[in-house]
Amino acid sequence: MTTSNPDVNTLAEFDTILDQRHMRGQWQYDAQLELIRKDGPLPAGMPYLWSWESMRSSLFELSELMGETNTARRNISFINPDPRANGTSHTLVMGMQLVFPGEIAWAHRHSINALRFVVDGSPDLFTVVDGEKCAMETFDLVLTPAYTWHDHHNESAEPRIWIDILDVPVFGMLRQMFFETFGESVQPVRAAPADELSRRSSVIRPAWESPRAERIPYRYPWREMSAAFDIWANAEGSPYDGVILHYAHPITGGPTMPTIDCFVQSLRPGQHTLRHRHTSSAVYYVMEGEGTTVVGEQELHWSSGDSFVVPNWMWHRHINRSGAARALLFSATDAPLLKALGMYREEPEESFGAQSYPDVPADIAVRQRGCR
Ligand SMILES: [Fe+2]
Ligand SMILES: [Fe+2]
Repeated sequence: MTTSNPDVNTLAEFDTILDQRHMRGQWQYDAQLELIRKDGPLPAGMPYLWSWESMRSSLFELSELMGETNTARRNISFINPDPRANGTSHTLVMGMQLVFPGEIAWAHRHSINALRFVVDGSPDLFTVVDGEKCAMETFDLVLTPAYTWHDHHNESAEPRIWIDILDVPVFGMLRQMFFETFGESVQPVRAAPADELSRRSSVIRPAWESPRAERIPYRYPWREMSAAFDIWANAEGSPYDGVILHYAHPITGGPTMPTIDCFVQSLRPGQHTLRHRHTSSAVYYVMEGEGTTVVGEQELHWSSGDSFVVPNWMWHRHINRSGAARALLFSATDAPLLKALGMYREEPEESFGAQSYPDVPADIAVRQRGCR
């Protein structure tokens, strides 16, 4: 083939020339488009499991090298072995943090949203969020939404560990990272309950104020979630996730945070869920039990304390390997972000948000008919 450029005789040579001009031809994406045409979005990252022992020992090894948390968080993140993920998944970073008795992780705030799910807590472990003291008992969830000041305190007698989940990869990609230190190691705690923002997030609110949905410090105590599991103990639940409960935003009833949704699911002894996939990715922490999550061709065998990731758009199902005990999984997903962009999809059906309420009790139905 001859062209007007004597140095270019093939398309491959032209691709190189374009590269030098900082240009790229659409045809270079043809192979990728063909894959997407056949099966939808390409998953970012790979399914992977980190054992509790590997994280626990890493945190204590780190503590020998890094003393006080007064200048830094003693935190280690789970990094997906596939560099395309750039985090635990491509949108979420999950890690664990170790705080020794008497330590304080100083007050700061940032544009990213973060949450803490407590692995080993105490009433004397707490995070102050915008002046509100949020106790961190085992399996409590504490939100530190974007731009809320937060400092962590361990006033108990034992080392404590919690999970941090953040939307760092998304904000980093969008170049929206802001970070500020408070100036003092701790922020003042609001003395008057009436000054607390979280008081405005219950169903009883001051009527002279407009409800605010952003930047609300919030704690979901495990004792309330645990009681909810007792209520739904005999429910069929979702065929894909068992009995799965949502941490709804206290004001909007929607996602836990603008970019992250949180759940706990209970799998019955011996339960095998049906296979599904969704455009969101999810990170999991095993609270209780032992089982297997099959993601694509890979089997992730988990037990209490382990953490794992299910990348976007990969078929997966959960198995409780115990015939006698339930399994409990905490999870966080990036679905709210995708829903905001109109990009959230599930296969084989949309099950999240599906409406399935109990029927009106029979005696009420009869009475209603009698009134007509
Ligand atoms: Fe932070
Ligand atoms: Fe799922």
